[in-house]
Amino acid sequence: MRVEGRDIKIASDLLAHYDVHARRLPWRAPPGANAADPYRVWLSEVMLQQTTVAAVGPYFAKFTQRWPTVADLAATPDADLMAAWAGLGYYARARNLLACARAVVRDHEGCFPDTEEGLRALPGVGAYTAAAVAAIAFGRRAVVVDANVERVVARLFAIDTPLPAARPEIRDAADHITPDARAGDFAQAMMDLGATICTSRNPACGICPLREDCAAVLTADPAAFPVKAAKKAKPHRTGHGWWIERDSHVWLVRRPDKGLLGGMRALPSSDWSASPDATPPIAARWATIGQPIAHVFTHFSLALTVHHAHLGEKMTPAGEGEWWPVERIGEAGLPTLFARAAEAVRKERDARD
Ligand code: ADE
Repeated sequence: MRVEGRDIKIASDLLAHYDVHARRLPWRAPPGANAADPYRVWLSEVMLQQTTVAAVGPYFAKFTQRWPTVADLAATPDADLMAAWAGLGYYARARNLLACARAVVRDHEGCFPDTEEGLRALPGVGAYTAAAVAAIAFGRRAVVVDANVERVVARLFAIDTPLPAARPEIRDAADHITPDARAGDFAQAMMDLGATICTSRNPACGICPLREDCAAVLTADPAAFPVKAAKKAKPHRTGHGWWIERDSHVWLVRRPDKGLLGGMRALPSSDWSASPDATPPIAARWATIGQPIAHVFTHFSLALTVHHAHLGEKMTPAGEGEWWPVERIGEAGLPTLFARAAEAVRKERDARD
């Protein structure tokens, strides 16, 4: 059972702490200030769904410098956006990012809708992003629950239903403690608390501003919340990738739009399966790198065996592709898996020379 007074106390304790300790982040307005630019908030939220605040920083700086407004982003060719996104992962999100920017320009005269419902109708904007942008950019009361908030709420109320079944209960509890005023600051304060104090392992309960309000701190092991259902082991797949070089250029292909790493530049590669087809795309004197590249995707892990060869003059693999200067491989926007493969080839060559 929840007591109204306690819910209000949680919000006011947390906001008082946030007023002093808010992290200064490039997309953020200071605590209590007018809302931040919706474009920057939306962009940061989409990026932050992939990875940590620290990893997003340089990408956010690069994107906002190159595309200062949503209209600039909407006008960019797909390939440039995909290349700039390389390394952030979940490439379908990059395609959705562009689709969303174009919808904002086409259907909303370049202004983001200012309600959760309006935002939710944009391509690729899910419940989380719509709530986060509505609260942070427009000051709307919205219940914003990401993984950090989920953990904080599960602990505050010692919710012991395992995830993911606990999600509706957690959202309901988050709804109870979300204030009408300063909902954007409150959401970000919860995120900061989860990222800095109420961390998954070793939470710093001794310095937590919500210590007095927390049910988990009274238990033997606050870090045991949220309870997680046992994870299924990821399937393992193998594959082959080919570094084909000719005259200081490497042959790059573009992956099909649909599917994993869709639309990204890549090395030619086999299917990824239990027994992939290891036939190279062209006959040559192939050498193989001893250690396959181990890479973990959301739904499976992959060991990619990398082969490399030099082609004679005028030889070109069949199918579409482009010769890319080896010394500028860092600018090709290869997704992490293939960037690591390129690095492995470079290291092997350096060791040999
Ligand atoms: N994670 C997701 N969104 C965030 C935000 N606005 N501030 C800090 N961490 C976040």
